[in-house]
Amino acid sequence: MDGIRLDIRFERAEARYAGRTVLQPLDLALSERRIGVIGLNGSGKTTFARMINGLVTPAAGRVTVNGFDTATETESARRQTGFIFQNPQNQIILPILREDIALGLQARKLAKPDVRAAVDAVLSRFGIGHLADRRSHELSGGELQLAALASVMVTEPAILIMDEPTNQLDLKNRRLVVETMQGLNETVIAISHDLELIAGFDRLLLFHEGRLAADGAPAEVIRHYRDIASA
Ligand SMILES: Nc1ncnc2c1ncn2[C@@H]1O[C@H](COP(=O)(O)OP(=O)(O)O)[C@@H](O)[C@H]1O
Ligand SMILES: [Mg+2]
Repeated sequence: MDGIRLDIRFERAEARYAGRTVLQPLDLALSERRIGVIGLNGSGKTTFARMINGLVTPAAGRVTVNGFDTATETESARRQTGFIFQNPQNQIILPILREDIALGLQARKLAKPDVRAAVDAVLSRFGIGHLADRRSHELSGGELQLAALASVMVTEPAILIMDEPTNQLDLKNRRLVVETMQGLNETVIAISHDLELIAGFDRLLLFHEGRLAADGAPAEVIRHYRDIASA
């Protein structure tokens, strides 16, 4: 999309937790607009995603996002990406949705009426303007996922990372979130077991036991995944 750059590079990047390698040295360059990440539980998907936004820094090698090194230019690298956690409840911190969304705008030091206008704009963009003054803990799963999306997109990241965005949703809310995601101009990297969701993506990455086991067009990578799952 015009004006939105995407350039994510892994150079022999490795992730360890407490000395244990959970992601083997990885070389990868990503520039597609829709990228899916699949694999069995514990295969390293979330760790991979956390390396893109600098929540996990490489124990060896490096990761750059739009040219910013996640280890040495963490703030700039992190500003490139918005991250929607597996559990959207963890995304909304303040009790009232409007206040929570406004929190994301703090760094911009806007005047009060401008904050209000920006919050209203992002909520209406995701079709949840009517939820502005609702208590976040009262929102349904689908509403919460859209609220999490609004709270992340208000900071205008070029890259959106979603960790299992449709996992806890009923079919109706799933469709709402999928359609909303499909309408985004931003680059989306989605970790998902929802094969229907990612079948139309530009590129899929399959992780298995901490290694990139397949990388390419969805049909082929999903076939590989089915083989692994039934082994
Ligand atoms: N904070 C952590 N501390 C220690 N080990 C972790 C931590 N997070 C994940 N792991 C381990 O790293 C491996 C990969 O986990 P993860 O990236 O969450 O996989 P996935 O998202 O594919 O389920 C698993 O063995 C998991 O137990
Ligand atoms: Mg995970």
